Amino acid sequence: MRVLRTVAELRSCRKDLSRTGSSVGFVPTMGCLHEGHLSLMRTARQQNDSVWVSIFVNPTQFGPNEDFERYPRTESRDIELCRECGVEILFIPPAREMYPEGSQTWVEVEHLPKALCGASRPTHFRGVTTVVAKLFNLVQPDRAYFGQKDAQQVIVLDRMTRDLDFPVRLVVCPTVRESDGLALSSRNVYLDAEQREQAVVLSQALAEVEELFEKGERDPNKITEHIHNRIQAMPLARIDYVSVVRTTNLQPAEKLDGGELVALAVFFGTTRLIDNIVLGERSLIDT
Ligand code: PAF
Repeated sequence: MRVLRTVAELRSCRKDLSRTGSSVGFVPTMGCLHEGHLSLMRTARQQNDSVWVSIFVNPTQFGPNEDFERYPRTESRDIELCRECGVEILFIPPAREMYPEGSQTWVEVEHLPKALCGASRPTHFRGVTTVVAKLFNLVQPDRAYFGQKDAQQVIVLDRMTRDLDFPVRLVVCPTVRESDGLALSSRNVYLDAEQREQAVVLSQALAEVEELFEKGERDPNKITEHIHNRIQAMPLARIDYVSVVRTTNLQPAEKLDGGELVALAVFFGTTRLIDNIVLGERSLIDT
């Protein structure tokens, strides 16, 4: 495995690999790797000749009062994990490589980022689409791997990929969970013991509404009400949103046919956790 830190090195490696005709599977990350990231890498390993990973805590996707400074950074451990997963190229650029002085170009999807998480994180997705577009340009992957946990991110990036004609196939991998159901996230390390215990309500509530849907519930209000009630019973939880939306436009679903996204964001202290399910075992995006 080669660890590269500059755009010039990355471009040169890509040029060499292009001559061989090998396919590239790409896993963009912000580091602090956990089983969720590793499952993306393993899937990429199975589907491509070469697996490339980036680790970059992207400053432009953090709001002014968010956790950019304290976001967990575990570089040497991450490098080992990538090596064990059979990654060929690991790109770890410093911020000045990705955003040299004078940078002023953004890649912005217009409507989808305003829904769900975008309501409380208005500049977040602009940062995500800008950095991922830059990484796609550099890595030129055949396939790029994302977790369903970040459902809105997947939907926004799918739109961007189609709108800008990137020749990249997005592959969405299932959310990886702790044994009690909590979705894995680099931010889980912020939770204290009591918050961690109560946070299990998120996946429980989602599993319960999946069951309600399977038993015939078709009213989205009943779904959100059930989740609200379950979460509000936890004294340390503060709901940001609970929504049932269509995956095509992230607008509220009027009735349930299967394929709707049930998504939530909940604060425990200052830690904001997200989770979601797609009703009726349908996929998040068309592939
Ligand atoms: O999901 C993440 O870790 C980030 O949003 C991504 C896609 C690596 C862009 O910085």
